[in-house]
Amino acid sequence: MHGTIETSTAETDKAARLRAAREEAYATPLKDFHPGAPRHFRDDTLWPWFERLRAEEPVHYCTNAPIEPYWSVVKYNDIMHVDTSHQIFSSDSTLGGISIRDAPPGYDWPSFIAMDEPRHSAQRKTVSPMFTPDHLDELAVLIRARTRKVLDGLPRGETFNFVDRVSIELTTQMLATLFDFPFEQRRKLTRWSDVATALPKSGVVESEQQRRDELNECAATFAGLWNERVNSEPRNDLLSMMAHHDATRYMDRDNLMGNLLLLIVGGNDTTRNTMTGSVLALNENPDQFAKLRADPKLIDTMVPEVIRWQTPLAHMRRTALQDTELGGKTIKKGDRVVMWYVSGNRDEEVIERPNEFIIDRKRPKIHLSFGFGIHRCVGMRLAELQLRIVWEEMLDRFDRIEVVGEPKRVYSSFVKGYESLPVRIS
Ligand code: HEM
Repeated sequence: MHGTIETSTAETDKAARLRAAREEAYATPLKDFHPGAPRHFRDDTLWPWFERLRAEEPVHYCTNAPIEPYWSVVKYNDIMHVDTSHQIFSSDSTLGGISIRDAPPGYDWPSFIAMDEPRHSAQRKTVSPMFTPDHLDELAVLIRARTRKVLDGLPRGETFNFVDRVSIELTTQMLATLFDFPFEQRRKLTRWSDVATALPKSGVVESEQQRRDELNECAATFAGLWNERVNSEPRNDLLSMMAHHDATRYMDRDNLMGNLLLLIVGGNDTTRNTMTGSVLALNENPDQFAKLRADPKLIDTMVPEVIRWQTPLAHMRRTALQDTELGGKTIKKGDRVVMWYVSGNRDEEVIERPNEFIIDRKRPKIHLSFGFGIHRCVGMRLAELQLRIVWEEMLDRFDRIEVVGEPKRVYSSFVKGYESLPVRIS
């Protein structure tokens, strides 16, 4: 799928960028490491930093960064330990929540991903009927019909942004269905998801005030929908499910906002970025694309592989509830502990040839991208379903989906994804 002049130039640039990053990562003293610097993610130069940490200091304390000190846990088994020890490592938003930086005051809305037991499970249970196998079978029919429509509307032989025309469009349509949100206003969901996760310098919003205004609009819109659902018969959408379950019916406004943003971001950014990542991965690995073409049944193992390869949420953070030992280090009560899924997914001690994209791995589902333990992604089967359907339908229609320029990556060490990916279909 390569061969255009743009792509080979881009490849040279990429190789040079990676070489420079490797030199920098190996010349920097470990005490100065800040693996969560968003620039590594925007430039796709994170790899040598984590490679060195895995080899030399797999549990690392960063005190030398413009953000508060944090531990990095970078090996697969250590991440698994933290993720499954929720009695020791808390997700509670009042302690700082689930991403590397504490949520700024006024933005620490409680959501069940940022709660500990027993509240977490009680609230999670209210939405889990959305993701049962039977309900997913029902959704599959709708997802396929919409996917076909979106793909049939794409231009041929012309460059367009895959992120906007396919990944965002399909995941936003899905989200509108999950909430039973006014379909024609669905792009508001995309916007709120972007605004909620954007870093100050990322260019998504011009000011804190703008961010506040937009999220207030989100809160007001959903408050209206909530009132409508609370006062009508139970229906099969996420809002109605929460409105008609005791554990969530009486949530305060902040908790409602927290859960909404969780579901909007969870259902939006992650699947969207994996969809885009799948096109990029298959372009960068034409032998794997040829394998897939020859045997489309490999979509079943390609999907979990691309979720590993992309790791659309690069990390989850916890806060230590007590002093504890990990990797020969003492983590103190109150410390921030970041589980770098993106690094665990490249741990050569657990995953064979982890830096290669291989669509027919024997055990493709052992990746960490959905987390483990009590917070393991509740929407994972839906995400896999969407990715499977989009590839079944793309293989049916297109000979090639050619990447014709560099992807523009998101400036964030939390959401690992793309702003744009120029492609051409033939
Ligand atoms: C939780 C990843 C798609 C909704 C999570 C967690 C991760 C994750 C890493 C936290 C796990 C932990 O802390 O141990 C992903 C990835 C996806 C994806 C990689 C796609 C490729 C979705 C979708 C939805 C969703 C489609 C919903 C529509 C949620 C929710 C939680 C969650 C509600 C919180 C679960 C809890 O706290 O119990 N996801 N997710 N995710 N995800 Fe996903």
